Amino acid sequence: MDSASSRRQTTIERLRRCRPAILPSLLLCDFTNLQRQIAQLEEAGYQALHLDVMDGRFVPNFTYGMTIVEAVRRCTQLPLDVHLMMVDPLPFIPAFVDAGADMLTVHIEAIRAVDASASLDETLREIARCDCGVGIAINPSTPFESIDGCLGLVDLVLVMSVQAGFGGQAFQPVALERLSALRRRLGSEILLEVDGGVHEATAGPCVQAGADLLVAGSAIFRQTDYGIAHEQLQRAMAVVS
Ligand code: DX5
Ligand code: ZN
Repeated sequence: MDSASSRRQTTIERLRRCRPAILPSLLLCDFTNLQRQIAQLEEAGYQALHLDVMDGRFVPNFTYGMTIVEAVRRCTQLPLDVHLMMVDPLPFIPAFVDAGADMLTVHIEAIRAVDASASLDETLREIARCDCGVGIAINPSTPFESIDGCLGLVDLVLVMSVQAGFGGQAFQPVALERLSALRRRLGSEILLEVDGGVHEATAGPCVQAGADLLVAGSAIFRQTDYGIAHEQLQRAMAVVS
């Protein structure tokens, strides 16, 4: 990281300070009233937001792009953690950063170039060049050793605890072993995030296994009071943290 006051470094420090933290995934929020939803999440105490970008190619689902990231940015100063579930995201990185992403996480499985490792390096370096937090995500069936070559370039590793693509799936317990193994490999410098099926019963074990940031969609948006959801999830994490 270059300068002490860089956006990238500020983001990492903000995320480090609040760990372990729950990040609401906006996938299931009420988009008819985005501003109010975000205000409610802030009031409830959440300290960063997670946005799921899906392209209908890497995953069999389609969500939104930089227009919504930009709209969310105008509603809040909270760090925006943008999870890119899209094939070959490299050309879109500057636009997502301009839209307001503070952290951009790409999937190792989504780099389709002939020389995939060179292209992955290029993608991660481009995120850093745009002064944004750099994340790499891995699906449950991808061997976690496959990210070893790029660990020197990333600030965050996202362990998927469901196959990327849809909210509301069941947590895959194998994620806990993967989190523990990665925590040992990463040391304490790189942030470890988990995404998919995080709720009251799975949040504690995730923190115990070493997760710093826990993404939750259904566990928050299927409740009417986001503050109660926050308290429940915080309590579940506190049992072990
Ligand atoms: C799934 C997304 C998740 C999802 C989480 O591919 O990356 O962020 O919205 O939703 P829940 O918590 O319902 O599994
Ligand atoms: Zn996600």
